[in-house]
Amino acid sequence: MSGATGTLVSVNVGLPRDVEWRGRTVHTGIWKEPVDGRCFVGRTNVAGDGQGDLAGHGGEQRAVYVYQLDSYRYWGEHLGRGDFVHGQFGENFTVDGLGDDEVCIGDRYQIGSALFEVTQPRVTCYRVGIRLDEPRMPALLVTHGRPGFYLRVLDEGEVAPGDAITKVASSQEQVTVRALNALLYVDPQPDPDELRRALRIPALSLGWQDSMRALLEAHDSHAGGNAGLVPPALQPAWAGFRSLRVVAKRAETVDIVSLELDSADGVPLPGAAPGQFVTVQLHPLGDASPLVRSYSLSGAPEASTYRISVKVEPNGAAGHLVRDRVDVGDRIDVAAPRGRFVLDPQPPSARSVALLSAGVGVTPVLAMLHALSAASATRDVWWVHGARNREEHAFAEEADELLASLPHAHRFVCYSAPSTHDIRGVDYDAAGRVTADAIAAAGAPLASDFFLCGPIGFMDSMQAGLAALGVAPADVHTELFGAEGAITPGIVSGPARQPHAPEGPAGAGALVAFVRSSLQVRWDDRFPSLLEFAEACDVPVRWSCRTGVCHTCETGLLDGRVAYDPEPLEAPAIGSVLLCCSRPEGDLTLDL
Ligand SMILES: Cc1cc2nc3c(=O)[nH]c(=O)nc-3n(C[C@H](O)[C@H](O)[C@H](O)COP(=O)(O)OP(=O)(O)OC[C@H]3O[C@@H](n4cnc5c(N)ncnc54)[C@H](O)[C@@H]3O)c2cc1C
Ligand code: FES
Repeated sequence: MSGATGTLVSVNVGLPRDVEWRGRTVHTGIWKEPVDGRCFVGRTNVAGDGQGDLAGHGGEQRAVYVYQLDSYRYWGEHLGRGDFVHGQFGENFTVDGLGDDEVCIGDRYQIGSALFEVTQPRVTCYRVGIRLDEPRMPALLVTHGRPGFYLRVLDEGEVAPGDAITKVASSQEQVTVRALNALLYVDPQPDPDELRRALRIPALSLGWQDSMRALLEAHDSHAGGNAGLVPPALQPAWAGFRSLRVVAKRAETVDIVSLELDSADGVPLPGAAPGQFVTVQLHPLGDASPLVRSYSLSGAPEASTYRISVKVEPNGAAGHLVRDRVDVGDRIDVAAPRGRFVLDPQPPSARSVALLSAGVGVTPVLAMLHALSAASATRDVWWVHGARNREEHAFAEEADELLASLPHAHRFVCYSAPSTHDIRGVDYDAAGRVTADAIAAAGAPLASDFFLCGPIGFMDSMQAGLAALGVAPADVHTELFGAEGAITPGIVSGPARQPHAPEGPAGAGALVAFVRSSLQVRWDDRFPSLLEFAEACDVPVRWSCRTGVCHTCETGLLDGRVAYDPEPLEAPAIGSVLLCCSRPEGDLTLDL
């Protein structure tokens, strides 16, 4: 199929620069200027162009961003603006024609001497809001079905303003840019046939393929949220905190204490997925505010009780309270099991699984080992654990018994400081710290599903070591016993500060508990959203659009209610909140 379909009106390029935004510095390539004459377009870029944030923009599948004059006219009218210049939307090619409702993913276009293929709609983020001085812009582009689209460069060549744009091949599946944008962001229940149709387009970018696949898999789940944007979470079994009874207490090592919790009202506890955690509220003596802490479930996931195992850190408030003040018979407020760090004990593939832990990080992977044993798993299971010595080696016998129940289990336990009583080959298998090289040398296959939990130094060195050995990041699953890494695209960060109450007078509003950051602060109405409140507290946050579209800021809501303004395009999963467009309606507990 061929025929003239449009005109290249302007070619715009720009290298990333630092701009000031709300007291912060953003490194962004969204400012682009028109260039005169012919311009070379290479495999990943228009000559002279660059992106500030390669995670979100650029690369082979997003080499050239296209925006249409018709949308310029539309936004001019809709926003009452007459000040737009070519490149205003961050696009490389400003074009006449090629509307989002006619261009299909996989269509091919000849422009000048270069050949292009349409790969995906634009993924919107806050920087287009900065460029247009209109913070709602990321949401508007999506909801009004005018996102623009990206091209991959099939044949490198030269283009110039005034060049005709000729369609040289049509995609077989005929899914327009606007329709695909709606499937991911707008349709509350995307049609599975349309998702399958999108997945049949070979030109579709890998990221969008993953999103379509996730939406298809989640089609029958009723947990809400948008699986295409955030990996689906298991729906929490109850809202807020439930009072549970301590039915057993046991010292596992010199500094780890386990509590077994059971229903206090006769209603049985629902099961948990292997690897999930619960959040507990502990009440110190006197009027001090409760301590809110999370603990992975360390017992068998199918057990009728929940077991948590708490390390008593030097000066650790909750650890000391659990060891010294909590007794059998006491009640503890517990939020329902949550978390995405979960193992499928009977996956469709027979890939081997490697459970890697150090210290008290053993807890979630021990639950996984229980689940593998209960499922009589026949695949290879590698149990790798690091401890100082036998005295500090928690759950040694329990793990050995579980491993003995599995036909293809392997143990590799390392002691960093074995004592003279510790017996190599019995208590442990190697002296020294656990390293990726040592695990590989012990024979663990690199084509495994890896599950990692331990202190931050262990996690960093294991992730780097496994990556250096060629293990794909998607095969490495991690649980952090603290704040998760921030996602703040383009922000040039200063030195990290410990979380703290916001500067200025203390708020008088609802009490907001940021559990992972161990911070409880009163809300203040001067903040437009929970996201900005958390940022003012230096609590690590994750965001991209800041207007309720992308779900990057989706966070576990352990207790409490929020009000949305603006309403997000799609509600978050049940038990979660979108921080960027919500404010508390009463006290809140957030998994942040
Ligand atoms: C998903 C998840 C799962 C988790 N699972 C587990 C688990 O299974 N088991 C477990 O033990 N923990 C787990 N944690 C961690 C747990 O939630 C707590 O963070 C941890 O137990 C420490 O709490 P704490 O109140 O005892 O210590 P905090 O009082 O919060 O102190 C934290 C650290 O600061 C140090 N500290 C405190 N005061 C001072 C001071 N004045 N000077 C210097 N240092 C100080 C303490 O030594 C300690 O190391 C998990 C966390 C998450 C997010
Ligand atoms: S940052 Fe995109 S939905 Fe909140």
